[in-house]
Amino acid sequence: MAVGGGIRQTSTSTMHSAKTIFAATVAAVCFMNPSVRAENLTPVALRCEYRVNPQGVDEAQPRLTWRVESSARGAKQAAYQILVASSVEGLRKNSGELWDSGQVAGNQTVNVVYAGKALTSGQECFWKVGVWDAAGKAHWSTVASWTMGLLRPEDWRAGYISFRDTTPVGKKAATPWLPPAHQFRKEFAAAKTVKRAMIYATALGIYELYLNGQRVGDARFAPGWTDYHQRAYYQTYDVTPLVQRGGNALGAWVADGWYAGYVGFGWGAGFGPEKTGRDLYGKTPALMAQLEIEYTDGTREIIPTDNTWKVTGEGPVREGDFLMGETYDARKEMPGWTRAAFDDTKWEPAIAARENGPAPATFYEDANGDNPGSNTKVKGHPVNVGFQRPAKLEAFPGLPVRPIQEIKPVAITSPTNGVYLFNLGQNFAGVVRLKVKGPAGTEIKLRYGEMLYSDGRLMTENLRKARATDHYILRGDKHGEEWTPRFTFHGFQYVEVTGYPGKPDKDAITGIVLHSDTPLTSGFECSDPMANRLFQNVVWTQRANFVDLPTDCPQRDERLGWMGDAQIYAHCATLNADVSAFYTKWLREVMEAQRPSGTFPGYCPYPFQAGWDFGTAWCDAGVICPHTLWQAYGDTRIIERCWPFMVKFMDWRKSTSKDFLGIKQGNDWGDWLSFGTKTPLEYVDTVYFAYSAKLMADMAAAIGKGREAEEYRELFDHIKTAFNQKYVQADGTLAVDTETAYALALYMDLLPADQRLTSGKILADKLRGGETAENSGMTTGFLGTRPLLPVLTSVGENDLAVKHFQSRKFPSWGYEVAQGATTIWERWNSYTKEHGFGGENGKQNASMNSFAHYSFGAVCEWMLNDLAGLQADGPGYEKVIIHPHPPTPGSNMAHEPIHWVKAHYDSIHGRIVSNWRRTESKFELEMEIPANTTATIWLPASSANQITESGHPLARAHGVKLMRMEEGWAVLETGSGIYHFVSR
Ligand code: BGC
Repeated sequence: MAVGGGIRQTSTSTMHSAKTIFAATVAAVCFMNPSVRAENLTPVALRCEYRVNPQGVDEAQPRLTWRVESSARGAKQAAYQILVASSVEGLRKNSGELWDSGQVAGNQTVNVVYAGKALTSGQECFWKVGVWDAAGKAHWSTVASWTMGLLRPEDWRAGYISFRDTTPVGKKAATPWLPPAHQFRKEFAAAKTVKRAMIYATALGIYELYLNGQRVGDARFAPGWTDYHQRAYYQTYDVTPLVQRGGNALGAWVADGWYAGYVGFGWGAGFGPEKTGRDLYGKTPALMAQLEIEYTDGTREIIPTDNTWKVTGEGPVREGDFLMGETYDARKEMPGWTRAAFDDTKWEPAIAARENGPAPATFYEDANGDNPGSNTKVKGHPVNVGFQRPAKLEAFPGLPVRPIQEIKPVAITSPTNGVYLFNLGQNFAGVVRLKVKGPAGTEIKLRYGEMLYSDGRLMTENLRKARATDHYILRGDKHGEEWTPRFTFHGFQYVEVTGYPGKPDKDAITGIVLHSDTPLTSGFECSDPMANRLFQNVVWTQRANFVDLPTDCPQRDERLGWMGDAQIYAHCATLNADVSAFYTKWLREVMEAQRPSGTFPGYCPYPFQAGWDFGTAWCDAGVICPHTLWQAYGDTRIIERCWPFMVKFMDWRKSTSKDFLGIKQGNDWGDWLSFGTKTPLEYVDTVYFAYSAKLMADMAAAIGKGREAEEYRELFDHIKTAFNQKYVQADGTLAVDTETAYALALYMDLLPADQRLTSGKILADKLRGGETAENSGMTTGFLGTRPLLPVLTSVGENDLAVKHFQSRKFPSWGYEVAQGATTIWERWNSYTKEHGFGGENGKQNASMNSFAHYSFGAVCEWMLNDLAGLQADGPGYEKVIIHPHPPTPGSNMAHEPIHWVKAHYDSIHGRIVSNWRRTESKFELEMEIPANTTATIWLPASSANQITESGHPLARAHGVKLMRMEEGWAVLETGSGIYHFVSR
């Protein structure tokens, strides 16, 4: 049956015989909840493999997650029971015929591994969870579900189909080669009453499906980007309500996407088949789908893609390319093509994709130099860009790209006659909906840009080879027409419209924000309005770059999964959105892109090699990102899945290191976009080698690999010793005298414990000493900026950290905001009111000037973790630390030091809140942690007697325990609930 909104709560709270809960569990739960009363625990937010009621899961043992909610303090789940059944009816009768976990003592709610009967292809699974509170009362959830995907290769009855492609393999040309998107269709009859109908679909290219005139699902850019030679994803859709008795029709759009379209800077750099920058995986898109119908009489039917389908390239999408844009000729629309009884006699029969035969070409890309210091060279090697079946097909494990939000223009200007510029007021990634009325054949051109020149013209220099232009040709409907491109997206705030019939009003253009549908999970506000705008800018930049994979930027001819950017920002990403499924997906591409040497490349997927096939600190993302996911979601399976790849990577790192030190090797990105003295690559390489070793030790321990944990811990110690011998002096100074060198060494725990404060003070003095009337004193680039403020706060220089954070001087976050930024920029001075885009000397590289680059936005991690003080104490936020870091009043002459913060984070266990306010005489903290968690709270206080909670002296506060006083802080412990502390 169809799953979705239709399933109702099964009320079952009394259905289980109350089993005795282990006394020990109860005792543990009672730790901070002496009254042991019923807590009204509610299990909510049931998810399977991090997704709500997912269709087509191909994990043999999917993991189940829920949250418990309660308004009581100290609420904890004492035990749980999961029931999984193959029908809702079964579950209603409380039969978990697929799996009954039995009552399991403990508070686990995250990633419980299914351990029932073996699940089969296409199987429907319905589940619910019961949780017991400390008083032994059971509370049951509503029903959730998942369905299984096609688990065995032989389940695929469909084959890849395509159109007959007679075009030769392209050569590099001055203008882009942009073929039309193709439409495929198939009519079929459903003779009997349909019980269940599922579609499994994938493409080499990107596809959209229709059934009887209705769009199937709402995902954009499916099936997502993989190395299509090795692996592709398929999506699963429940289309039960769409199949009708009698005549039906399936329709599919298929466009080039990442498979055959322009990707990255390939065209500009002359990479790819015949240096074209396109057709990187193959030249002819293909579709594979099958509709599986189950009739009420128990019979089944499969409608697979095969040569009985029809195809045409004569439809309205004349061009559809991520980087170049879309051209849509509405005169070529074919109304009714996805419905039965459409006349497709002019369409061609589809062919098996392999029938197009091999398409030999020479693929150009860089090859590594002969030794670590040497240059790379472009080389050509023979490839076949004809059809090749992906070696593996996997169920899409991520979250689809979807239209998430609509944006109305804030202003329309007309810089020249007939040209209209729409300002959407916000830089973002997506498309527009165009509304227009006019004569057939009228052509409207839409160009996109992030910024305007001072004379009001659209700035597109920074798009490089991305044409980022859409065209719409009117069919001449007298009621008006509407259009939204399907197969492209742009990074933009401004849309330039040429050729519009008459004068457009604000309704003519609506911005449609597209990104992977990762639910937002954070909030931040404070007493400095600059910081509030900055927070919004960080979140918008994350949204603009989480389009199927974490990209560097959404606008220019790049949009690649750059690994350095990803590792710098990954922790911040987990704070701002639930990216569990999103990174689970991308990490498969990362592991798949591992180089033969064992290193990880600069970006993943890796369609071509540019420069060396790795760069230090970029390659380490292969270890850092899985570690980050584990920390955020308590996910040990991701460690297990990545483990062999990570070990191979560490073996490579060990083999390139000399005497436990890093070397100058690979692409020299280093502390990318820093100012002043460069931090040498061999220093960065040592630091990241150590960091990766340390994370490996922690991850090994987390998955029960004790021996490996020990080995990586020893490796870390060796690197640390070598690092200290080479770089660290007894007075706490470092041989490499840059802010980044200090920030990294402190952040990655490479200094002797007794030297941290001294070295931290040296770093602080460098920043302080570097400040002038015009300059903030910060010199750090991508690598050094992320740890800068966390490190300053951790070495007792929080006032400086907050002061620098609030600076509006160049370079700083406040400077960007003061220049009008609505997203985070690639460069601190991407644009200045004074010097425009050219920078101070007018020579700034416009082609490397993105206005939506998230790396410097990693400061959001400090805003939430340190300033607001919301931190995890170990993996998965089961234990939380609330440790606000208010600056000292009067510690900043330029801007009033931040004196209140309101922040929250929706962790996998639920919402964590830290709202604090400091006045001359008191400090107030309103905090909340979810059921099932405990918190350690750091409250500034001179003595415990000076603290009240909800108006009561601390000693009488319910559910709060004073652990100790430590250097002006009271350290407290609480269980779940809302607490209001005041200290003086
Ligand atoms: C990207 C960066 C990336 C870098 C490597 C750039 O083109 O936009 O963000 O990390 O290359 O240095």
